[in-house]
Amino acid sequence: MPRVFRAPGRINLIGGHLDYNEGWVLPIAIDRSCFLAAKARNDRLLRIHSVQMQETFECHLDDPRPQQHHWSNYVRGVAWALREAGQSIAGADLLISNDVPMGAGLSSSAALEVSAGFALLRLSDLKMDRVQLARICQRAENEYVGMRCGIMDQLVACCGRRAHALLIDCRTLEIEPVPFDDSSVAVVVANTMVKHALAASSEYNRRRTECDDAVARIRAVRPNVKTLRDVSWPEIQQMASTWPNDIRRRARHVTTEMLRVHAAAAALRKGDFAELGRLISEAHVSLDTDYEVSSVELNLMVALAQQIPGLLGARMTGAGFGGCTINLTGPNDAAEFAAKLAESYEEKTSIKPDVYVCRASDGVEEIV
Ligand code: GLA
Repeated sequence: MPRVFRAPGRINLIGGHLDYNEGWVLPIAIDRSCFLAAKARNDRLLRIHSVQMQETFECHLDDPRPQQHHWSNYVRGVAWALREAGQSIAGADLLISNDVPMGAGLSSSAALEVSAGFALLRLSDLKMDRVQLARICQRAENEYVGMRCGIMDQLVACCGRRAHALLIDCRTLEIEPVPFDDSSVAVVVANTMVKHALAASSEYNRRRTECDDAVARIRAVRPNVKTLRDVSWPEIQQMASTWPNDIRRRARHVTTEMLRVHAAAAALRKGDFAELGRLISEAHVSLDTDYEVSSVELNLMVALAQQIPGLLGARMTGAGFGGCTINLTGPNDAAEFAAKLAESYEEKTSIKPDVYVCRASDGVEEIV
């Protein structure tokens, strides 16, 4: 009998592009998951079948070469990173069905990595701390797949908690679960159905370089600064008059977003959802104008949401350049809000969006 595992996708309430700046983020693991049926083998083969890709891929565990741009790299990369970390995993047959939409900003790739890593460990009777597993999956994506992502997505897929958001300090990797109870507040996810995949990975890596550039300029004056977490926007303003405009605006997004995350966590702890919504909407403007990672479709989805009664706040989620927005509403308004948003987006674009209410769910687990 195969064993069955699941790892969730995620939305990030606030803290866009802060993880790789060692800032704070406030994500939720959602009730859309990557499901994986797994059987140990007694040789060193990894046989992976993806239901979505309708393809089977076979490789040897001892062959560390990635296949250019192939979906199997997410799984092979995790197997490689586990072995690099000294874990003696055995071969396996893996059947993958990923319920997290791909390229939608909901972290389907982290859900795949984490479910695969967890399954490969369990099949070989190996145990690992969840934060360490997240780091290994991030390493796979950074070094094997070639995307310089931060730690947020893998950490949420590992450590998500039902009915909670996670306040994560991306410097120390400390996690504070903050109650996010669906009897008080709802999150509606709205997929624009448009992805700008090429822009997404190259622009994402470029944003990281731009942040590094800002840090290098600051360090020329203040050598103790390690990342943008260590400075405030007023401090930067005093030294940034000669900086290129883009770099200054990237730094403004990052440093002001840090403050918004703390304010949002405080609002959530108090149950002040109006304030949480206001901060989420403010974050969208900053991501759009200062960080420039939104898109025409994301901005349209947010603008349409703002015309519907019951909205507390809306913003893009994930890396950007397409994918999903998140919309905060009261629990009783959510279903009607979702229907209206879907209708008005379709009316404007002739694209039928996927719009649904999501629930905060647990991290990776074995389910059968
Ligand atoms: C992607 C990355 C994350 C994070 C977000 C932006 O999802 O994988 O590490 O940087 O973008 O917040």
